[in-house]
Amino acid sequence: MSSKIPKTASFFHSEEVEKEYKNLIRILGNYDHWYHVKDKPQVSDYEYDKLKNRMLELVEKYPDLATKASAKVGAAPSKGFQKVRHAVAMLSLSNVFSEEEAQGFVDKVRRFLGLAEDEIVALVAEPKIDGLSCSLRYENRVLVQAATRGDGGEGEDITANVKTIACIPQNLPDDAPDILEVRGEIYMSRKAFNALNTAQLEKGKEPFANPRNAAAGSVRQLDVKVTEGRDLGFFGYALGEMSENFAQTQEEIRQKLAQWGIPETSYKLCRSIEEIMGNYEDVLKSRPDLDYEIDGIVYKVNRLDWQARLGFISRSPRWATAHKFPAEQAITRIEAIDIQVGRTGALTPVARLLPITVGGVVVSNATLHNEDEIARKDIRIGDTVVVQRAGDVIPQVVEVITEERTGAEEIFKPLDKCPDCGAHAVREEGDVIRRCRGGMTCPKQAIERLKHFVSRLAFDIDGLGDKIIQSFWEEGLIKNPADIFMLEASNKDSLTPIRAREGWGGLSEKNLFESINDRRSIVLNRFIYALGIRQIGEATAKRLASTYATIDALTLAMVQAQDHEGEAYADLIAVEDIGPAAAQDLIAFFAEDHNITVLDALKSHLDIHPYDMPQVSDSPVAGKIVVFTGTLVQMTRAEAKAKAEILGAKVSGSVSKKTDFVVAGEDAGSKLKKAQSLDVTVLSEQDWLDLIS
Ligand code: IVH
Repeated sequence: MSSKIPKTASFFHSEEVEKEYKNLIRILGNYDHWYHVKDKPQVSDYEYDKLKNRMLELVEKYPDLATKASAKVGAAPSKGFQKVRHAVAMLSLSNVFSEEEAQGFVDKVRRFLGLAEDEIVALVAEPKIDGLSCSLRYENRVLVQAATRGDGGEGEDITANVKTIACIPQNLPDDAPDILEVRGEIYMSRKAFNALNTAQLEKGKEPFANPRNAAAGSVRQLDVKVTEGRDLGFFGYALGEMSENFAQTQEEIRQKLAQWGIPETSYKLCRSIEEIMGNYEDVLKSRPDLDYEIDGIVYKVNRLDWQARLGFISRSPRWATAHKFPAEQAITRIEAIDIQVGRTGALTPVARLLPITVGGVVVSNATLHNEDEIARKDIRIGDTVVVQRAGDVIPQVVEVITEERTGAEEIFKPLDKCPDCGAHAVREEGDVIRRCRGGMTCPKQAIERLKHFVSRLAFDIDGLGDKIIQSFWEEGLIKNPADIFMLEASNKDSLTPIRAREGWGGLSEKNLFESINDRRSIVLNRFIYALGIRQIGEATAKRLASTYATIDALTLAMVQAQDHEGEAYADLIAVEDIGPAAAQDLIAFFAEDHNITVLDALKSHLDIHPYDMPQVSDSPVAGKIVVFTGTLVQMTRAEAKAKAEILGAKVSGSVSKKTDFVVAGEDAGSKLKKAQSLDVTVLSEQDWLDLIS
């Protein structure tokens, strides 16, 4: 029985909204991980953007939802490369999909800056390159560092790799500033991509799904020689840190960069919605003729003083947006619907397609998400369907062409048994996913759990790829995560079958044991994440690690919380991101004897150390509640609010005893009176600016 623990009351949003928001954050985080760390996108850009936009919509409507999670872009850096802290954060872009939304972007800029209706907002429109973003740092005009975006705050040092890219200048001319960070996109041309994939296939290697993944995979190579052999390009489009201002407009930035030898795409300066849409149509038409992939057009406010005033919202600049192209589609037939078993037992239906080329890439599988989706779209085996692939990613079935039906199509019947282990496949009330009940006895789940355990954000063990895990599992050498740490000490002969299977041994064996031994010391949040508990993603694992400090404390607390009431349960629910459902999954994990056995075995092999949660901003207004009232003269209300929030303040619409500051502009009325009656500190607009400057 779960008792009702009152959650902290919120004036701003309902629990429903919060649940939806957290769910979105979780899903997006997961997609980010697959996209940025594994270079294997799980959904189309279109689907991703839809979810992201919904998330941003919620944040805009209920600003108190904004947690650090929503400010996170991309995924944390992968191991193996040095980390680089970006002096100026590398962020992403909001999206628009239509003329109305593009107009909406311009209107918002105008409102934010308080511009008149007829004032022209000139935008630089440039192609949105589908590659991976990179920051090039020049000091005294010498290229000293190149870094990936990573999670926006911290990326990977890929200097050695980037120095092999021929079109990137190693030196800048004398008139360039002493410090200059050029941000841009590393990409692979279509021609280079096709040549690379032909070569991959000849070598019996897996081809890359698309040029973007090929570029990312080529740059993120510990062996620089591999990068050197790949034909990569670069286009500059923005700046990071710089020691002096050398431009007034985005156009001038582009001109200067081009003068200094940085490759630049073509662009167009648009002054009206007609020009914006005309350019959009032109670029869309010329898209197939370009030698690189683009997935939209980026609009940037041309005036840099306006850019500075517009600033950023959590993930992206207010002064820029991406106008995305529609996804590419093709028509093919569903030959079968297979079921994929995940590590938590989730059974995901996948359509096997008659292979078809969609936007230059051969597609033979499409995810069908879950049985409700199949029913909603009435997808049947043998159906002719429209499949869609956007930029990267696992293709989707958009719709069935029912006119093509012959009557021989078969309705998909959800399995009541796991296709792998034969255990019951059950869909619980309120869950869209059907799950295998085989638990620890389902081989497929066990293998998927092992893959998760060694994945980049978990133990990050190089040399234990999917295939090799499968082999170790089949040979009975690794049955659970603890076995990984006993491998080296095991009888050497036991490895013989693996050596035969994989053509493995010698150096790869030595390297594998080295990377396993490297991970005998691990930080608690990675350890918790590696356990693969349902709903416990990377961010939640961090929160648990910082709350409970040790694995023993966490284990004990989960045992104490088993009655779903009392202090231990209340403490658990109080952890950000842990609702009753995630709490239930955690408690259930620690209630299983076999999990505790594996945990104990792991503990005997590992040194698990505590995790320090990074602290938030220490600006003078961080954590303060501020109310703006009256007419502000030096900035619009939106601008004032945005700036306050960047500094960690909470902006509220009404004055109460909890308010820390009321910033009173001209003609302030009732809110000012209320502040005075409640003895709340009142600041003039200038006082406020002085305080935060
Ligand atoms: S501007 C602060 N311009 O798209 C502004 N980004 O979805 C940062 N991208 O992270 C980005 N072409 O990797 C900009 N012409 C362009 C771009 C571009 C591709 C990428 C970039 C960014 C992502 C956002």
